[in-house]
Amino acid sequence: MILLTGGAGFIGANFVLDWLAHSDETVINLDKLTYAGNLENLASIADDPRHIFVQGDIGDTLLTSSLLARHQPRAVLNFAAESHVDRSIHGPEDFIQTNIVGTFHLLEAVRAYWGTLAAEARRDFRFLHVSTDEVYGSLRSDEPAFSETHAYEPNSPYSASKAASDHLVRAYHHTYGLPVLTTNCSNNYGPYHFPEKLIPLMIVNALAGRPLPVYGDGQQIRDWLYVTDHCSAIRRVLAAGRPGQTYNVGGWNEKPNLDIVHTVCGLLDELRPRADGKRYSEQITTVADRPGHDRRYAIDARKVEVELGWKPAETFATGIRKTVLWYLDNQQWVSNVQSGAYRDWVARNYGERVR
Ligand code: NAD
Ligand code: TYD
Repeated sequence: MILLTGGAGFIGANFVLDWLAHSDETVINLDKLTYAGNLENLASIADDPRHIFVQGDIGDTLLTSSLLARHQPRAVLNFAAESHVDRSIHGPEDFIQTNIVGTFHLLEAVRAYWGTLAAEARRDFRFLHVSTDEVYGSLRSDEPAFSETHAYEPNSPYSASKAASDHLVRAYHHTYGLPVLTTNCSNNYGPYHFPEKLIPLMIVNALAGRPLPVYGDGQQIRDWLYVTDHCSAIRRVLAAGRPGQTYNVGGWNEKPNLDIVHTVCGLLDELRPRADGKRYSEQITTVADRPGHDRRYAIDARKVEVELGWKPAETFATGIRKTVLWYLDNQQWVSNVQSGAYRDWVARNYGERVR
């Protein structure tokens, strides 16, 4: 079996669903259930014995050590993190605690467990750390995309905390020989994305008749990847990545924020036209820029393609249409998230299943 952290969040939950669709290997899912953790994301596998949910903190060494000893996983995949840049600007402390201190404690528990394994299991064990392209900082418009050897130049408390965790993971390989893998992925989008991030926020606000707040001039560029493509990349890196290596994962899909917002508006005009006949783009408003806002991210994903044969399956056109359709079809999920009712929903419908 595998032990995964942060599997009730956006990417982690997509990964658990994707994993169980491709494999019969059991997943132990350790998640603290912060505001971003939502067990409703996993409702479709509520009765699946291959999924064991445990509520807890990656920084709780007693808990992680006992889970590792009891379940003897062949791999640990670390998705758990505080992940929202704007929240890291308003309050960096949780980012330091979970992303740096929490990852350190998890590494310590994993190192101790790994040391108890027999030679073959030690050799085959993997610790896969899920990270971000934001650790590389911001690109000028004429610079080439981030390769794995690009210098780390994080600019926000979020990216600095992720960079620190990447360095710890690297050090545990070089110092202790722990067989680690790190993926640095670009911006994801897709189902179960918490509506504080750009794409789900725009869909949800548009449908509610609220303003669509674009930071600054809206010309900041991100390299968008549909979330199931990130999941397939992680599965591929876990299966065939070389221990100690990092792999950049991206969709070759750089777009300015304002273009993204217009694309979302255009899809909604087609799929759920406004009752007053007007265009959703009329709701776009410009707001003050994010402090320290990174101008451009772009991933050079050649290494993961050449070495491991991974390529994204979705284009932006197919992925964004699926995403908008998912939000239109899952309005109850949206309203539970917005009202906070997803937390009650967990207690009512899922509580007994939480082990
Ligand atoms: P998310 O915020 O949606 O989910 C994070 C999950 O981690 C939540 O379920 C939360 O409850 C859990 N968690 C937080 N602190 C914890 C702790 N101390 N112990 C246990 N669980 C804890 O984040 P996401 O967007 O799904 O991102 C997952 C990972 O992928 C993160 O490491 C993030 O840095 C990385 N990443 C995200 C993106 C993106 O576009 N969202 C891109 C590249 C990499
Ligand atoms: P976000 O989804 O927060 O991801 P990240 O900051 O990790 O890239 O933001 C994506 C881009 O969209 C980023 O350049 C900030 C911008 N943005 C807005 O313009 N308005 C918004 O309301 C939000 C949440 C983000």
